[in-house]
Amino acid sequence: MKDILADTLTEKELELMPNAFDVLGELLIFAEFPSELEKKEKVIGERILKRFKHIKTVLKKTRKFSGIFRLPKMKIIAGRRRKETLYRENGVQLLLHPEKVYFSPRLSTERKRIAELVLPNESVLVMFSGCGVYPAVIAKNAKPKHIVGIEINPAAHTYAGRNVLLNKTENITIFCGDVCKVIPSLHETFDRIIMPLPKSASDFLATTLIVVHPGTIIHLYDFVEQKNFPDESIARIDAIMKEKKQQYSIIHSTLCGQYAPGAYRACIDIRIENLE
Ligand SMILES: C[S@@+](CC[C@H](N)C(=O)[O-])C[C@H]1O[C@@H](n2cnc3c(N)ncnc32)[C@H](O)[C@@H]1O
Repeated sequence: MKDILADTLTEKELELMPNAFDVLGELLIFAEFPSELEKKEKVIGERILKRFKHIKTVLKKTRKFSGIFRLPKMKIIAGRRRKETLYRENGVQLLLHPEKVYFSPRLSTERKRIAELVLPNESVLVMFSGCGVYPAVIAKNAKPKHIVGIEINPAAHTYAGRNVLLNKTENITIFCGDVCKVIPSLHETFDRIIMPLPKSASDFLATTLIVVHPGTIIHLYDFVEQKNFPDESIARIDAIMKEKKQQYSIIHSTLCGQYAPGAYRACIDIRIENLE
């Protein structure tokens, strides 16, 4: 990136250029763009478009993931005035608008890890399913009996429905609503449950216990400082399990991506041992 801007920016400006960006289909998105380069952002974007022909739009994030729907705000700095994109990972295609649905391409390796754990004929529940990326990656890379997704954001739910059609994955059912309301109406238990809402997944763990059976595996995501991993996440889980008198064991814990200096997204894999 710095090489292609060498004739456009001064040495000092080059120093300020962020190293990190995400490529989402035809979009290139800077997560942090320095205000000192604001006046040069258009020319920077245009240089990027000229050099990388597959990129059609360059954007910068102007607000971090926020609110219940975990949505960012982005400004187009160069190129096509279109934010909806077709993104590919792990053998699936996903249509999405990065301001209307939460999405991070940085979690593709973690999604593959989960898909590789799914055994043939498992029933899988994806809470907080967004545009349907976990259901799609699992359906394409494993042989589950069926997958249920639940998402509260109507726009994300609509994209999830379109992505089911796009990937021709017939064994996926997506519900639009609050997991706390949808889960009690499901009347089935699941072999595997994914909880990809690291900001507050443990707040929903008691609700998740409505649809478990002995042997159910729960993948619970959490934000944690590296120095407190995994003890802090496990302590949070333990408090809820004790209150619910639920036997469980922690079978694995992993850090799956940094989101701030020293702060990580963790996944704690829990097995339900038996019910009271
Ligand atoms: C961090 S995003 C993960 C989305 C998707 N699973 C992915 O990995 O790209 C969390 C999602 O949970 C949804 N959400 C938040 N609270 C919810 C609730 N109570 N019930 C259902 N979905 C919820 C948000 O709208 C958001 O799409």
